[in-house]
Amino acid sequence: MLLLIDTDPGVDDALAILMAHAHAEVLGLTIAAGNVGLAQTTANALKLVEVIGADTPVFPGCAAPLVHAPVADAAFIHGRDGFGDVGWPPATRKAENEHASLAMLRLTREHPHAITLVCIGPLTNLAVALKLDPRLPQRVARLVIMGGAVTGRGNYESVPVEFNIGFDPEAACVVFEAFPQFDLVDWEATTRHGIDHALLGQWFERGDERARFFEAISGHARAANLARGRAGLMAADALAMAVALQPELVTRAETRHVAVEMAGRLTRGATVVDWNGMLGRPANARIVMEADRARFEAMVAAALGGPG
Ligand code: RIB
Ligand code: CA
Repeated sequence: MLLLIDTDPGVDDALAILMAHAHAEVLGLTIAAGNVGLAQTTANALKLVEVIGADTPVFPGCAAPLVHAPVADAAFIHGRDGFGDVGWPPATRKAENEHASLAMLRLTREHPHAITLVCIGPLTNLAVALKLDPRLPQRVARLVIMGGAVTGRGNYESVPVEFNIGFDPEAACVVFEAFPQFDLVDWEATTRHGIDHALLGQWFERGDERARFFEAISGHARAANLARGRAGLMAADALAMAVALQPELVTRAETRHVAVEMAGRLTRGATVVDWNGMLGRPANARIVMEADRARFEAMVAAALGGPG
């Protein structure tokens, strides 16, 4: 499986990227601003690739959303530097000079119908790529998006809004309207598949340097999850990556038309699902509702160097 990952590392992004490298071939990481600023998400991606010992190219993308400035970042969860503020020395490797959106176009031309594109951050880079080449969806084998809150239980600044979509609603609208079909792993599915903290602790004990790195960078996020009374570590991007790597891991899904609200006073950035087919528009999203937890956990454990 060939993966191209658009990401805003970010702690759960890091876990997803560890999983990707453990279970597939990663053509590149295209970097978005989101959890923290682009310079930091890019530095985090370079550091992670160094820890993994891979030569995966890192392509910085857009530093800001398409139209409006973001309402907030997610440093309160991920730490000011996006990796738990543990102060790792920066990677020696440098990012590529090619823009993320151009890398998306080039790599899908070099590998037509072969790439699984996994988007686990705000969708700005993909939206720009689509404006440069509207034929992009025809070259992508499969698109998996972490984003949204399909019944309005969000995690961002407004009640029904999830971070990745709410950070750049216009970009999400461009993407949702351009791709005829994509898998959607939303925040609500994430909350149903939290990773038990005690189990995570066992993986840390039995894992290798990847486990030690993730344990260090996830301390701030794990504490923030506990402080919010969440049942385990909410690893949204890791769940989306598991769905990308093992589609058969999905045990229940609903295919519906999903759109993005861009103007609502209380709902800007909300993902609006046409559950009852009222709009008569094609169903563009396969909404993941349930996944095989044991398989998900085994993939995470393996990515940290321990047995499942
Ligand atoms: O809502 C969860 C998403 O927002 C994840 O991608 C996380 O990394 C943050 O970016
Ligand atoms: Ca992310």
